[in-house]
Amino acid sequence: MSDKAKLKIKDKEIELDLIVGSENELGIDISALRANSNVITLDPGYKNTGSCQSSITFLDGEKGILRYRGYSIEELAEKADFLEVAFLLIYGELPNKKQLDKLLSDINENSLIDEDIKKILENFPKSAHPMGILSSLTSALIAFDPLAVDVNSEDDMYDAFVNILAKIPILVAWVYRRRRGLPLDYGDYSLGYVENITKMMFQLPNSEYVQNDTLVNAINKLLILHGDHEQNCSTSTVRIVGSSHAGLFASISAGISALWGRLHGGANQAVLEMLEAIENDGGDTKKYMAKAKDKSDPFRLMGFGHRVYKNFDPRAKIIKVAADKVLDELGIDDPILEIAKGLEKEALEDQYFVDRKLYPNVDFYSGIIYKALKIPNEMFTVMFALGRLPGWIAHWREMRKNKEPIGRPRQIYTGENLRNFTNIESR
Ligand code: ACO
Repeated sequence: MSDKAKLKIKDKEIELDLIVGSENELGIDISALRANSNVITLDPGYKNTGSCQSSITFLDGEKGILRYRGYSIEELAEKADFLEVAFLLIYGELPNKKQLDKLLSDINENSLIDEDIKKILENFPKSAHPMGILSSLTSALIAFDPLAVDVNSEDDMYDAFVNILAKIPILVAWVYRRRRGLPLDYGDYSLGYVENITKMMFQLPNSEYVQNDTLVNAINKLLILHGDHEQNCSTSTVRIVGSSHAGLFASISAGISALWGRLHGGANQAVLEMLEAIENDGGDTKKYMAKAKDKSDPFRLMGFGHRVYKNFDPRAKIIKVAADKVLDELGIDDPILEIAKGLEKEALEDQYFVDRKLYPNVDFYSGIIYKALKIPNEMFTVMFALGRLPGWIAHWREMRKNKEPIGRPRQIYTGENLRNFTNIESR
């Protein structure tokens, strides 16, 4: 097979290199196209554009495959601990016991936050959305530790990663606890990463904390499933912000904001609100299916469809099974799980959804688990951010280590041609 692609622009033929990925994915290298032809490619939403070469996550949307550093998501979700997966995503290999112990102990050593951050938190309205607060507080952390990361030093980068892996869970716990009017605490050094997160969130001041293994296991699984998803909206945001050599915290803060949107991570909250609305409206799933298909109605079936998965989202399959298990173990009989299953069944048999290859995505069932764990709706996307943190870090590191150029797309200008300025009196 030729390793070149040919492009004919008017009468000129241009040869372009073909880039072959390790799973035989093909990309046409157009980086020199404009220099050779004065032509750019146009691809709103980057539906067909590769922004980088990356060795972190492989996904095949047609076959429903997702792998972190070569390991299948099914195996990781079944066997791994979230912190192991974080190390794997960032450094490319699973940690040995010594590396993992060191990572946990380094995280614990860094898990103090300047108490002044509490003052900032207290000044947000209690009703403010937790994602906005988390993004702001992540940004605010820079002011308390303004030293830039030397990206040529692995030690320096490691310290920065440990710092952010240590501090974000505390911010998450504080945001959650403040909403509930609970005292803001720090973690417990004797616990694992996920165990510590759950304790920081759920311990009460008037009773002894008893770990709930169902809750810890479910959160561990959900965090792993959210760990990375190659060049999605928030990760691309982290890479592009970082490409201007903005710091790690600033880049992650931008990623949190990108994740917040309802078409991205914010969908998990939107799904649960949709399911609750359907339940309150009498549980008529057919009515909402019709709304989703009606082009004059802005309603979309939240938790359905994906930019890349056109077969099924493998994370949704795992989460669906986990949702059944968690509700069963906790003895919860939630009617919205039945509504979700009913909607899924109808959608999978409906020509509109079949034609457009719309399947449940990762967010369709995750909210049901979070609800069963008594995590409020507005916190769902925050939990997603906690899981996505190692992925963002891994991409930020890869982008800086590869010395990627500043992200700066071009455009096709469609505005006015040159015209003369008219004085205000004459307008
Ligand atoms: N309900 C109804 N119709 C839908 C849905 C949906 N959830 N998703 C896509 N469609 C339709 C579109 O109207 C469009 O129809 P048309 O071809 O007749 O115009 C077609 O399917 C293609 O949709 P696009 O929006 O062009 O697909 P895109 O790849 O740009 O969007 C997205 C993907 C944003 C995920 C979309 O499917 C969506 O809005 N889903 C609901 C929100 C959601 O669940 N987001 C979470 C995604 S997973 C994540 O980010 C973690």
